[in-house]
This record gives sequence, C-alpha cells and structure tokens, in this order.
Amino acid sequence: MNSPRPATHSDLPQIIDLLDTIFRREKGVEDQSVLTDFPLVFDDDNLANCRVIERDGRIVSHAAVWPRTFRFSGESISVGIIVLVATDSRYRRQGLAAELMRDLQVAMPGLGCQLGLLWTGVPDFYESLGWGAVQTPGWIVREATSSQDRQGQLRVVDYETNRHLDALHHLHRDQPIHSQRTRAESAKLFTLPKCPVLVGEVDGHPVAYLVEGRATNKRGLVEYAGDPGDVWELICHVTAARGPQQLLIFPTHPELAELARAAGWTIAPLVSSKGFGDEMVLLLDQTIAETGIVEQLFCWGLDQA
Ligand SMILES: CC(C)(COP(=O)(O)OP(=O)(O)OC[C@H]1O[C@@H](n2cnc3c(N)ncnc32)[C@H](O)[C@@H]1OP(=O)(O)O)[C@@H](O)C(=O)NCCC(=O)NCCS
Repeated sequence: MNSPRPATHSDLPQIIDLLDTIFRREKGVEDQSVLTDFPLVFDDDNLANCRVIERDGRIVSHAAVWPRTFRFSGESISVGIIVLVATDSRYRRQGLAAELMRDLQVAMPGLGCQLGLLWTGVPDFYESLGWGAVQTPGWIVREATSSQDRQGQLRVVDYETNRHLDALHHLHRDQPIHSQRTRAESAKLFTLPKCPVLVGEVDGHPVAYLVEGRATNKRGLVEYAGDPGDVWELICHVTAARGPQQLLIFPTHPELAELARAAGWTIAPLVSSKGFGDEMVLLLDQTIAETGIVEQLFCWGLDQA
C-alpha cells in the first residue's frame, strides 16, 4: 500500500490525464485541460503541494493545496485553497482521497495556511474531515437579462498583456479585499483559457476591467475591479453583446447590486463565491475565528479552484 507523496514533474502526464478524465472529458468538455486552467497550481513552486497515491503502479488519486494570501482592509490572512481532489472511479471508497486530504491538512500549517477553503458538490466527504460550510457575503444575478449597450464614458477593448497588465494588476490590488498576486501571477491569471478580460479605458488609460468566464470551471462575470459605475458599464456592454450571463456581486461593489436592481434584474444572496456548490472552510489557526474575517471571506474568480 503506497502512502500519499508529493508530485514530481515526471508524474504530471499521469496526473493531468486522471484529472482531465474526471473533471473535463466525463463532463463532455474536450477543449479544456486542468494543466492550463490551473497554471499556478501545477507551477514548479507549487508542485510539491500536489499529492498523489499510486496503486498497481499508476497514480489513482490526487489532491492539492494552493496557498494564497488575502488582504482584508489592511489585515492579511493565509488561505490554503484545496484544488482538484479526485480518485479514479475504479479505486473509490477505499479511503484514498481522505488519506490525501489528511496528509494536506497536516502540512497546511507548515505552509503558513491559517485557513483552508474549498468548493464542492460532495460536502459530506469534507465534513467528516473537519470542514464546515460557510455562506459568502454578496449577491448573485443568475442570468442578467440582456441590456441596451449604454453610450458611456469608456472605450471597451480586449485585454492585451503589453498594454494593460500593470494597470489591471494595480486595479485588483486597490480593492479593499483582494488576493495578493505577484505581477507574474496576474499575467497568468489574466490570460486563462476561455476567460476573456474586457478593459474599460478613458483617454487610453485602463480604469476598470471585467472577466467573462466561459470556461467549465469559471462561468459568468466572475471578477472585476474599478469604480462601480465603470464596472457596470462593462457589464452592460458584455450582456448587450453576448446575452444573459451570471453575475457575481462581491461586497467590494455593493453599488452594483443597486444598479442591477434598478435595471430590473433579479438578485439573490450569494451562497458561495462561485455561485454554485458548497463553500467550506477548515480553521487551522483558531485566532482567525475571532477576527470576523471568515464571515467576510470571498474569493475572486481568477483565484478560485
Ligand atoms: C469525491 C471523491 C474524491 C472521493 O474519493 P474516494 O477516494 O472515493 O474517497 P474516500 O474513499 O476517501 O472516502 C472517504 C469517505 O468520504 C465519504 N465519501 C466519499 N465519496 C463520497 C461521495 N461521493 N459522496 C458523499 N460522501 C462521500 C464517505 O463517508 C467515505 O467513507 P466510506 O467509504 O467509508 O463511507 C471521488 O468520488 C471523486 O473523484 N469524485 C469525482 C470528483 C469530485 O467530485 N471531486 C470532489 C471535488 S471537490
């Protein structure tokens, strides 16, 4: 019986095949791969945080943690996002995924993680490992009705790394609640497959952006930054051009909820930062419970698992 071990470079083809089979091909998705959908998870820096179990000479189970730091109005919190937990269907209910999760949970404090965070369709599996469900602050518009494109002040253009990376990196960082990203991380996240980024410019200077997720793992209007009026203009632009979309309204932009209501869109409380699935946390540092941060926690689209 082989125990959990950190992944190595030579494991990657087997890991990606296992995960693409379960999370992509079995769902009828042929044009996405977890390797390019989660470039920072499989980055050299994080590969040891991807854990595997082998049976019969093959990798049959995988789970990973992706440590991120979030800023909450000046405070920092280190969060381990749990990603891509899966077992080959022929080896399920043998305790393999639970063994990988226990291995990660022991390792997470040593990686600096104060809190674990995940989204799942199988909450019972994680509950038995100590995780609890949370509700995210914010609102959701399930399918924003198409709107007339308003003649606003912005020139709306597609994201180009050379022209926009620095400005968008700063717009993200200026949010009162945001994930800490290096410039290189921003460069990768703003060019994820099937997640086009629209940029609103004034006099050639980017003042707002909006990510339109068309990927199976990122769907709808999942991330934005800038003045709420400018973000609203981008939302109207994209729904006019491409029809109804799911809109996630995070507590950084409460004004968007008012603008959406005024436009006649139906708004509901946001249950999970993804808009679907159960969002769960694992407290690794008990002092976090007293800060009120867990109740405010939400995770922007491009940092989601
Ligand atoms: C969910 C999944 C990872 C579980 O893997 P596994 O190796 O079979 O899990 P384990 O054998 O370690 O399960 C341990 C316990 O978790 C619970 N559990 C496992 N799978 C479960 C499921 N699908 N639903 C509810 N509870 C489940 C059971 O209590 C199980 O113990 P038991 O077999 O003694 O009853 C696997 O079914 C899978 O790959 N599913 C498809 C991908 C997926 O949905 N991943 C989760 C994404 S967040």
